[in-house]
Amino acid sequence: MTSENLTSNNANQVSTNLILRPRRLRRTATLRRMVRETTLTVDDLIYPMFVMEGEEQKVEIASMSGCYRYTLDLLLKEIEQVYQLGIGAIALFPVIPEAKKDDTASESYNPDGLVQLTVKAIKQAVPEILVITDIALDPFTTHGHDGIVDEKGVILNDPTVEVLVKMALSQAAAGADMVAPSDMMDGRVGAIRQALDAEGYVDVRILAYSAKYASAYYGPFRDALDSAPRFGDKNTYQMDAANAREAIKEVALDIAEGADIVMVKPALAYLDIISQVKNYTHLPVAAYNVSGEYAMIKAAAQNGWIDEKRVILETLTSMKRAGADLILTYFAKEVALMLMQVVGQN
Ligand code: PBG
Repeated sequence: MTSENLTSNNANQVSTNLILRPRRLRRTATLRRMVRETTLTVDDLIYPMFVMEGEEQKVEIASMSGCYRYTLDLLLKEIEQVYQLGIGAIALFPVIPEAKKDDTASESYNPDGLVQLTVKAIKQAVPEILVITDIALDPFTTHGHDGIVDEKGVILNDPTVEVLVKMALSQAAAGADMVAPSDMMDGRVGAIRQALDAEGYVDVRILAYSAKYASAYYGPFRDALDSAPRFGDKNTYQMDAANAREAIKEVALDIAEGADIVMVKPALAYLDIISQVKNYTHLPVAAYNVSGEYAMIKAAAQNGWIDEKRVILETLTSMKRAGADLILTYFAKEVALMLMQVVGQN
């Protein structure tokens, strides 16, 4: 039967002529569950978390309601809960006081720096949870860029990679399970892999922010860390939102340089990129459901304009359907709770 027959408009006979009826498979909740193509599980989730100096404090991030900067003591308590919910990994981001920032991000490889001490403490308190550390200079630089900047404002690639390598080594020494370069300098994955191997950290994995776009969706995150660039933008290192083939080029390079997992960021406006990357590689593909994507859903939900839970699940499922094996999301905790309750529903 051709598709023309299917759609022909014979007023009297149209229903009796139909042999193919896709709706049959949608009739009951059980059946819908059985033919469902994509399933979101707690194993897919990575929870980004913010740590700050001090004690006994948690401060909500204004533009990311429900997300907090925690001092280490409270962070550890939170991570215990997160692990009990079944979430296997967290991605750690530090809030660095202005006084510790400089032009070259030297605090980033301080063996007793905030990230290093936090990683050690987490690996003691909850050893099973995977700790993923971010590799980029921006939380540590006075100018807020992810690289070393010359007097003309140019971001210097190779001198930046040298700092990134020191940062990776100090995080590995502290016990990081996986390092995640999010800076978009050329050649950093290879340089980090070589240095880690040379120092005996052969099992420290690299989650590469391979296709990271220069995106306006990072705004709330930069509020969270006070890390917005003080001049210019990140367009000379992060990718142009209009490019797809270039994403594959970046992914190919990171794989050749030794990445274990490749990532696309942001996620929601880049589902096509996730899908293309997935078709290109056999490596696990991660997607970062970034701060602006989170903030949009929260804001609409707080106004009563959308059904928050359903929109969250629909959004994360779309990323999974596009090809993401792993999703970094500020919704991780909420979703883990929702998934516990979801069995038996339609
Ligand atoms: C830093 C970094 C950023 C994010 C993760 N790591 C911001 C940026 O590149 O400016 C954004 C995460 C988010 O928006 O949720 N290199």
